[in-house]
Amino acid sequence: MTTQDSDLAPIPLNDPKPRIVLANIGRFFRRNLPRGLFARSLLIIVLPMLILQTVLVFVFMERHWQMVTTRLSAAVTRDIASVIDLMDKMPDEEAEIIRIADERMGLRVTLLPPGKLPPRKPIPFFSILDQTLSRQINNQINRPFWLDTRYGPKDVEIRVVIDDGRILSVVTRRDRTFASNSHIFLIWMFGTSLVLIIIAILFLRGQIRPIQALARAAESFGKGQKPAEPYHPRGAVEVRRAGIAFMQMRERIERQIEQRTAMLSGVSHDLRTILTRFRLQLAIAEDAKDLEGLNRDVDDMNAMLDGYLDFARDQSEEAEGDLDLGALLRQLEESAKLHRKSLTSAIEGDSHVKVRPNAFTRLLTNLAANAWRHGNNVRIEARHSGRFLTVTVDDNGPGIPAEKREDVFKPFVRLDEARNLDASGTGLGLAIARDIARGHGGDVTLGESPMGGLRATVRVPV
Ligand SMILES: Nc1ncnc2c1ncn2[C@@H]1O[C@H](COP(=O)(O)OP(=O)(O)OP(=O)(O)O)[C@@H](O)[C@H]1O
Ligand SMILES: [Mg+2]
Repeated sequence: MTTQDSDLAPIPLNDPKPRIVLANIGRFFRRNLPRGLFARSLLIIVLPMLILQTVLVFVFMERHWQMVTTRLSAAVTRDIASVIDLMDKMPDEEAEIIRIADERMGLRVTLLPPGKLPPRKPIPFFSILDQTLSRQINNQINRPFWLDTRYGPKDVEIRVVIDDGRILSVVTRRDRTFASNSHIFLIWMFGTSLVLIIIAILFLRGQIRPIQALARAAESFGKGQKPAEPYHPRGAVEVRRAGIAFMQMRERIERQIEQRTAMLSGVSHDLRTILTRFRLQLAIAEDAKDLEGLNRDVDDMNAMLDGYLDFARDQSEEAEGDLDLGALLRQLEESAKLHRKSLTSAIEGDSHVKVRPNAFTRLLTNLAANAWRHGNNVRIEARHSGRFLTVTVDDNGPGIPAEKREDVFKPFVRLDEARNLDASGTGLGLAIARDIARGHGGDVTLGESPMGGLRATVRVPV
């Protein structure tokens, strides 16, 4: 079961409730959180900053704003109250009071003839100013009043009915009544966070690039491909150490492959020279009939040597190319016919795949040859969907018992001797097949076939 499967698996209903909730939360995060390292690290930096700022804005700013607005509108209301009081007490000095209010208090006062106050405008729900100012006027002046906080672009107008029935209209600057410069604080806060986020992005990119480069190098090595760009360890100490370790590992593996190839091809080459001499001597020998068996042995040895060389050859030498699966399967059907066996095949999805054509042909040929060697009916099915190519080779032969299914992948392991079957093989077919599949970043596995025999499954990313 892959991690994705377990992500999607339904949660058992008999679990106690809190555990279901926790599991659901966990699942929600697993599904919705970004999967990349870069996005995750960025989230770790940005999320706390965002939460902190939101709390700051809502708790601190809201209170600060409310308080400053209350104080400011209280001060303006006090000024207006003083003007009204003065006018009450000194009706003769009206003009002088109006002048002083204008010059000293910043209140433009006009006296309107007695009449009705205009209808109140509806108070916007979010307007702190309207609410606070109304409250202050109610508390401090306690007379019928009318309020327009949107009088002109920058002003507030307040009308109050004074004792003699006339209406006192006061116009003053809006910023005298509430904290209007709070947005500067917000701009500063969001501005600096933006700068911080940009710096974090730049810094993180620098940190994550070496990890991505290492991942790419390891991936292409795993698939047996030549890396698109040469890899150099860079970045933080830990990443660099992992990179150096990876390079050492790669070198050791490459050296081992090289040695194995050199040794096997050396041995095979030497033996072949001797075999050629044998064959010559056999050809000129007198009694060719008696030597028929010997001749067959020489042929067998030759075939064996071919097998060894095949095994030793470095599969990754070949470049990736286009392989027509349809054509390959038709070819296999023909070969099966020659062996008087029946082979049927089907392809689901695009029949053209991007693999190493020769190696992949050898892989499928090995599996198909095994199948028709052990069974009479063979069925090959290829499914090419999205990112993977899956090929299953089924036969109706004796199959392989589960506990032996890993052993047969080892070079030179054959079960046929024990089964007393006259099937001459070197026991390298499956080892080569697995080598090739792993070289493509995939694998070959064995299992039971619905047809009764063995099912070999090849799965490679394409
Ligand atoms: N389809 C199959 N059904 C039953 N047994 C199988 C099947 N395929 C392979 N085997 C067993 O697994 C062993 C290993 O197979 P492998 O292909 O590696 O070697 P081989 O077929 O004997 O030799 P080679 O393929 O090198 O000519 C075989 O000897 C055989 O006993
Ligand atoms: Mg074989």
